[in-house]
Amino acid sequence: MEVTLIFLLLLLLPFRHAVELDTISGSQFLTDGDTLVSPKGVFELGVFRRGSSGNRYLGVWYKKIPSTVVWVANRKSPIMGASPVVLKVDDPGVLVLSNNISTIWSSNMTRRSPKLATSVLHDTGNLVLMDQNERIIWQSFDYPTDTLLPGMKLGRSFVSGIEWHLSSWESNHDPAPGEFTWGAGTLGYPENKLKQGPQVTFRGGPWSNQRFSGVSTFDSNLTFTYEVVINTSEVSFSYVLDDSSILSRTTLNSSGQLENWVWVENGTKWQLALSLPRDICDSYNICSAYASCSLNMIQQSCACLDGQRFVPRDEKSWERADWSGGCVRRTSLDCKNGSEGFVKYSNIKLPDTENTWFNMSMSLEECEARCLKNCSCMAYANPDTSLEGRGCLLWFNDLFDIRGYSVGNGGQDIFVRMASSELVAESNFEKKGANIIIILPVTILGVLVIGLFSTWLYARRKRNHAKEGKSMDASENNEEDIQLPLFSFATIATATASFSNKNILGEGGFGPVYKGVLEEGIEIAVKRLSKTSSQGVGEFKNEVICISKLQHRNLVKLLGCCIQGDERLLIYEYMPNKSLDSFIFDKTEGMILDWTKRFNIIKGIARGLLYLHQDSRLRIIHRDLKVSNILLDQDMNPKISDFGIARSFGGNETQANTHRVVGTYGYMAPEYALDGVFSTKSDVFSFGVLVLEIVSGKKNRGFIHPEHDHNLIGHAWSVYSEGRSMELIDDCLAKSCNPTEVLRSIQVGLLCVQQNAGDRPNMSSVIMMLGGESALPQPKQPAFFMDKEFLVADFSSSTYLAGSVGDVTITEVDAR
Ligand SMILES: *[C@@H]1O[C@H](CO)[C@@H](O)[C@H](O)[C@H]1NC(C)=O
Ligand SMILES: *[C@@H]1O[C@H](CO)[C@@H](O)[C@H](O)[C@H]1NC(C)=O
Ligand SMILES: *[C@@H]1O[C@H](CO)[C@@H](O)[C@H](O)[C@H]1NC(C)=O
Ligand SMILES: *[C@@H]1O[C@H](CO)[C@@H](O)[C@H](O)[C@H]1NC(C)=O
Ligand SMILES: *[C@@H]1O[C@H](CO)[C@@H](O)[C@H](O)[C@H]1NC(C)=O
Ligand SMILES: *[C@@H]1O[C@H](CO)[C@@H](O)[C@H](O)[C@H]1NC(C)=O
Ligand SMILES: *[C@@H]1O[C@H](CO)[C@@H](O)[C@H](O)[C@H]1NC(C)=O
Ligand SMILES: *[C@@H]1O[C@H](CO)[C@@H](O)[C@H](O)[C@H]1NC(C)=O
Ligand SMILES: *[C@@H]1O[C@H](CO)[C@@H](O)[C@H](O)[C@H]1NC(C)=O
Repeated sequence: MEVTLIFLLLLLLPFRHAVELDTISGSQFLTDGDTLVSPKGVFELGVFRRGSSGNRYLGVWYKKIPSTVVWVANRKSPIMGASPVVLKVDDPGVLVLSNNISTIWSSNMTRRSPKLATSVLHDTGNLVLMDQNERIIWQSFDYPTDTLLPGMKLGRSFVSGIEWHLSSWESNHDPAPGEFTWGAGTLGYPENKLKQGPQVTFRGGPWSNQRFSGVSTFDSNLTFTYEVVINTSEVSFSYVLDDSSILSRTTLNSSGQLENWVWVENGTKWQLALSLPRDICDSYNICSAYASCSLNMIQQSCACLDGQRFVPRDEKSWERADWSGGCVRRTSLDCKNGSEGFVKYSNIKLPDTENTWFNMSMSLEECEARCLKNCSCMAYANPDTSLEGRGCLLWFNDLFDIRGYSVGNGGQDIFVRMASSELVAESNFEKKGANIIIILPVTILGVLVIGLFSTWLYARRKRNHAKEGKSMDASENNEEDIQLPLFSFATIATATASFSNKNILGEGGFGPVYKGVLEEGIEIAVKRLSKTSSQGVGEFKNEVICISKLQHRNLVKLLGCCIQGDERLLIYEYMPNKSLDSFIFDKTEGMILDWTKRFNIIKGIARGLLYLHQDSRLRIIHRDLKVSNILLDQDMNPKISDFGIARSFGGNETQANTHRVVGTYGYMAPEYALDGVFSTKSDVFSFGVLVLEIVSGKKNRGFIHPEHDHNLIGHAWSVYSEGRSMELIDDCLAKSCNPTEVLRSIQVGLLCVQQNAGDRPNMSSVIMMLGGESALPQPKQPAFFMDKEFLVADFSSSTYLAGSVGDVTITEVDAR
């Protein structure tokens, strides 16, 4: 009977024109070419074609942007072949899509309904099937595909059992469900999770006041209103745009990227407003328990929640960037009655909430008491800061997937359980911290006062000299004078649009770097020291004093600084081309740097380093030379940056021992990494690594070769020994390279990375060798041939409190 009806309809088809319907009910139906259009014409439902197979799908798209499909009905069962299909409302209250033989797709029957069911498409994009009393029988918003539209929910209804989540397309051409899903985890305190199959890959973090703990603000000035429901009937997250005329959608693409898009009427294109995960630190649990991830340019680094009370579970693995063991409390918990307490950590993406308990009417005091009473409670927090101090979230396992943010850029407070002895330590620690903070501005101010005083002295002496008819030797002034403009905080805040996220150039170890424009139109880069980083305070002072004394065209120029309250900012000249690593390790960008440019860069770095080592009045050892610390100006001239950890010497001192090893694995000379002995020759070593990286376009650390497990140095050494050095060269240099210069550079690079510091040339010889034509000495076998060798090396020195490997600066502080 049914089949006959459809058959009859199909017979009529060739004689029908495509029509636009506003409802489907009773005898109305929709077939290929026909569409169902929402009342204001925002959305349209119909059959579309995707992929080379020519498969057809029933879906919803924007009427004026037909290529943007927001929902697909039959994603698992495409319409194959050319036979026409029909969509109609069937008797028991279901929408049925069928061809002449069978049903292709049908809506789930949530509720049996009388005959008069009607299907309409709302202007929200929701396809709704309702009964004659306009009660919803079924709606497409309950079955999202890869797109979340305003008003659509993610989460779960405990009443109907429906779970709302996004699931990616298989590929851009195939709407079949792909690997990724994005939806709310409802075990413990609800939060959204991105999964690849069963594996969590990213967490949005718990809902806080107007944002998720793990998601910083949108790159758009649109205002959203979020609706978060957490009660016994439902857990759901949804959003609406305050201006509903603006088209907005959030998609989960087939590579697992969540993207929020806004339609720009003017540009007639979708503009990206937010993309998640943003960076490697967003990768789920990348640092394991009690450790937080932070970014330095493009690499991630893990550090125990605080360097005092937490230590790596396995220090050896931690040192080689294997973070999987995470951190543990230095003093373990014993849960003596009432003696334990809590330490507060701020600006933290709250840890995974799967094993948590919450009560949103409890106060923070009640919350603390509650946590203290239960020995398995590890931490508490107020998850939703909009509830005026109410709300209690307790964690019953180790704290995973933590991320630190700089002040004002996200994150929340969490109170972590500690043994009583650590609480005593805390008061000491706080006192010590406070001292540092108080002393430092005084020191810096002192330096500046001395600076101003000597400027005044200089001016006076100059007057006197003038009186005496003598001119003054400029060098006299350079010696102790620190002339550094002081900027007001307000000036810098204006220049950086109040430290807007949009202006962030990178996130350094001690805080973010912002781009800014001064009123005069001068572009600047502003390094804002994170207030929480007590280590950074020392670096700040060091950096200010050091850089202000140095002037060379291959060094980045410090324009000034700003100290106000507990804000400490460094103002540098702005480098439009960012850092060298964004070019040489990227296949496309790498093309921009042909051999001539690269050779100039190598020579420029060498000149900058020579200046630091010999020509500047102070003898400066950079100690953290690496590609990400080489910035490029508009003409691709290299400028060495980041003197935060440089150490200056007076007189003839050439070598020193340190208890504080600072540097980056992959660039550190053996005598420095292993024994803490540093000299200009340890910088020469790092320079050698840099040269090999620039020539090859590969990273020393993380270098992979199918035939051996040498690092880049080892690989360079073996091809060099076999007379095949040209094999090392970056593919994108093939056309532009000058073989003589390339071979010379490789040989110089290898001379610089020799095991014995005494064998390495100094920078003036390096410059002569790079520019000259005479025969070069033969390098001896380099150090750190293989990463393996490095791993078994004995770190005789003290505990690594905050370690990170890769292109990230590591810092070791001797325990006392
Ligand atoms: C039904 O569809 C098939 C192909 O899908 C076609 O070969 C056949 O002719 C169709 N039958 C009718 C009656 O349209
Ligand atoms: C809807 O249909 C799917 C399969 O098509 C089924 O797994 C599910 O249980 C049905 N019911 C509901 C209420 O989702
Ligand atoms: C958003 O900001 C841009 C400039 O950043 C401005 O042109 C645009 O008008 C703003 N849009 C709204 C809705 O305020
Ligand atoms: C849960 O919240 C939703 C939305 O605010 C509301 O409709 C529902 O009645 C609430 N359920 C309970 C049990 O409070
Ligand atoms: C998904 O989005 C990311 C980030 O925008 C992009 O790199 C990737 O190519 C996209 N994947 C697909 C299949 O479009
Ligand atoms: C964009 O919008 C502005 C103001 O709404 C208008 O003046 C301008 O002509 C528009 N540009 C285009 C390309 O439509
Ligand atoms: C634990 O401390 C509470 C109050 O701090 C007290 O009431 C209780 O008796 C103590 N229990 C034991 C076993 O000491
Ligand atoms: C939540 O906390 C409030 C206030 O302390 C309390 O009255 C209520 O019983 C608690 N609910 C649960 C389920 O523990
Ligand atoms: C502590 O909390 C856990 C998780 O809620 C619970 O299973 C356990 O029974 C509690 N222990 C005590 C002593 O209350």
